[in-house]
Amino acid sequence: MGRNVFLFLIVGVLGAWYLYTPLPANSEQPWALMFMGASLKTALNLMQLAELLGISHFMTSTMFFMSFLETPPTSDENLTVVDTTFHNIPVRVYVPKQKTKTLRRGIFYIHGGGWCLGSAMFYGYDLLSRQTSNRLDAVVISTNYRLAPNHHFPAQFEDVYNSLRWFLSQDVLQEYGVDPKRIGVSGDSAGGNLAVAVVQQLQGDQDVKVKVKVQALIYPALQALDFDLPSYRENAHYPVLYRWFMIRFWSEYITTDRSLEKAMSINQHVPAHSAHLLQFVNWSSLLPERFQKGHIYKKPAFGSSTLAKKYPGFLDVRAAPLLADDTQLRSLPQTYVLTCQHDVLRDDGVMYVTRLRNAGVPVTHDHIEDGFHGLISNSLKVGDRMRNQYINWLSENL
Ligand SMILES: *[C@@H]1O[C@H](CO)[C@@H](O)[C@H](O)[C@H]1NC(C)=O
Ligand SMILES: *[C@@H]1O[C@H](CO)[C@@H](O)[C@H](O)[C@H]1NC(C)=O
Repeated sequence: MGRNVFLFLIVGVLGAWYLYTPLPANSEQPWALMFMGASLKTALNLMQLAELLGISHFMTSTMFFMSFLETPPTSDENLTVVDTTFHNIPVRVYVPKQKTKTLRRGIFYIHGGGWCLGSAMFYGYDLLSRQTSNRLDAVVISTNYRLAPNHHFPAQFEDVYNSLRWFLSQDVLQEYGVDPKRIGVSGDSAGGNLAVAVVQQLQGDQDVKVKVKVQALIYPALQALDFDLPSYRENAHYPVLYRWFMIRFWSEYITTDRSLEKAMSINQHVPAHSAHLLQFVNWSSLLPERFQKGHIYKKPAFGSSTLAKKYPGFLDVRAAPLLADDTQLRSLPQTYVLTCQHDVLRDDGVMYVTRLRNAGVPVTHDHIEDGFHGLISNSLKVGDRMRNQYINWLSENL
């Protein structure tokens, strides 16, 4: 009897120690967040165990369990919702039912999930697209793209680019009643990364006549050169995007060979011959003082040039669009950037704001002081606030 109680106590204490995640003092709904963090941690650790035992790739099993979040295309009183393909890429389209004589605004949305997970068909993204379409009386295209580990860079980029080009063709815009002068490209997290990359790429594309009016970026991932930014240091252990998880995503976007992940996790993967790129991710010159507070800049140590020659993707501007030079930034459209204080990707977004402003691009920066990564497609209250701020901006600027 006494022994059982003792065992029970030990298991309880170990369990609580394992599940407990200290959260910042300003968190709203801390219990819901803590619960979310604990379930996520447990699930991810189980997937890691399955990978260790050789049962399934970590991302494949994670995506398998997440696919239960998919929801069918359901029209309602206000919206016609259909799944179709653009250039053979699955997309979900939301068109307001109300008849109108004028053309509508068009939003091209790219979901997040670290280039490995996620779908436009997930409940949270479906809801976001419905709200956007409803509130703006806009046509929303929410695109999918091929995912790692089955497909690596540049497959994700190319799918999104081809899907967007399909949408921007005159016939398709006409078919959906979209005004070619009022088109926005948006995305969150890895989708924000792809949004930045495709909008940059469009600028040099002579075949596309339509100009994107705005881009809206929600906690985007923009660089894979320095994983020792203040935001990576401060938020490495906060839900939902732990530092190790983001590094796994980045390396998996490029390759399944885990030697890249290893080098990235000790921040020693940039080869000496790419030293000139470090200026574009130099947070000691690109972050405003308040985000640098208490941190000392340390230049990443150079890594193996063999590794970088084998997997050059992370040095490619289409994968890491913060590496674009100033001339490439100058003609970009008006931009919205949302960042969260408690997010490893915070400084990626903040540095892009600085770079765009330096290049003369008009930028609105919304910083969510009590925000965490990934919540725009989540039901927590802070997610509601993010959706509102994002949609309000589109409503005023698109
Ligand atoms: C349809 O639009 C009306 C008016 O904006 C709104 O009150 C209602 O909740 C919407 N219905 C759905 C299912 O979103
Ligand atoms: C980063 O910026 C700081 C301050 O502007 C500068 O002193 C340093 O040389 C830069 N380092 C690199 C690697 O660009």
